[in-house]
Amino acid sequence: MRVLGIESSCDETGVALYDTDLGLTGNQLHTQMAMHAEYGGVVPELASRDHIRRLVPLTEACLAEAGIGYRDIDAVAFTQGPGLGGALLAGTAYANALAFSLGKPVIPVHHLEGHLLSPLLADERPEFPFAALLVSGGHTQLMAVYGIGDYRLLGESIDDAAGEAFDKTAKLLGLPYPGGAKLSQLAESGRPGAFSFPRPMLHSRDLQMSFSGLKTAVLTAVEKVRAEHGGDVPDNVRNDICRAFQDAVVDVLTAKTHQALLDTGLRTLVVAGGVGANRQLRTALNALTVRPAAKGRLKPPAEAVRVYFPPLHLCTDNGAMIAFAGAMRLQHAQTAGAFAVKPRWPLTDIVQPPLSGSDR
Ligand code: KG4
Ligand code: ZN
Repeated sequence: MRVLGIESSCDETGVALYDTDLGLTGNQLHTQMAMHAEYGGVVPELASRDHIRRLVPLTEACLAEAGIGYRDIDAVAFTQGPGLGGALLAGTAYANALAFSLGKPVIPVHHLEGHLLSPLLADERPEFPFAALLVSGGHTQLMAVYGIGDYRLLGESIDDAAGEAFDKTAKLLGLPYPGGAKLSQLAESGRPGAFSFPRPMLHSRDLQMSFSGLKTAVLTAVEKVRAEHGGDVPDNVRNDICRAFQDAVVDVLTAKTHQALLDTGLRTLVVAGGVGANRQLRTALNALTVRPAAKGRLKPPAEAVRVYFPPLHLCTDNGAMIAFAGAMRLQHAQTAGAFAVKPRWPLTDIVQPPLSGSDR
């Protein structure tokens, strides 16, 4: 079965082909980053117009890459939400028109489900069940994944997403949009411990997270540095701030992930979403072992965790994850074509409540 996947939820147009026998045979992407950089952020109207311009040529390139024609497509999957309304509408209209003209089914996909399943596109695939840390520009969630369509939300950020915190902090440090990746690059030459920022909700005993306070702490530090350096933030000090910010985010994400593994008993972890590209986060999660609470004076041994990341180029938005999620939905007969977009579509609409201890 060959499923064409269309992604257009934000500032990337992605078109990919997933063949259930051969795997990913076509994967085309256009990023609008340069276009939006001029404005310091995504301009929704420009994004929608650019998606419209790119969808047809990207599809042609994708089919050529896969060595097939339009008539060989068995279904068209598209991101129905969440995302920017106009941007979603461009992909939705295109996917529906294409599927209708070919007489093939159309499969609406939840963007986050795409991210969630993207590690299954790697050569080394995780087995169900697994815990998932979803860290993108719009969402930070911990989920338990028991199978295709069987997801339970364990905890999430109550305010800014981790990627959003990276981008906002980058902006206030004067880094060009989109700043998250740039900030993490500068953090690598920052000295650990030169600054110290709070770890919000680290000890809240639940799996909720909060990142909005962190950027305020960074802002306070930046203002103090500016006052001391005649209005400037010297490069080395800026790098130290980047490092301290990244240390705080990575610490919180790692601690909450540890708690999620402990609570669920799961020992396989999947990391998805743009922030999953962060090298320091990858290193910390790769080193993660689960340490069950001591019983009396007996200290149980640390338990190993298998950690899976999507291939780096599939961490950020792409059509491949949408094609793949669509193919999985089709195989599990979970399709319901719809020509509608869902700009605000909580993942909780397609997840179950968390399992209580006795159901596990
Ligand atoms: O998943 P994604 O492509 O888009 C959303 O669905 O949001 O994630 C984009 C987010 C942005 O906030 C970006 O700054 C962040 O991922 N990001 C990073 C890195 N690369 C991308 N954040 C931290 N470190 C990185 N290396
Ligand atoms: Zn995304």
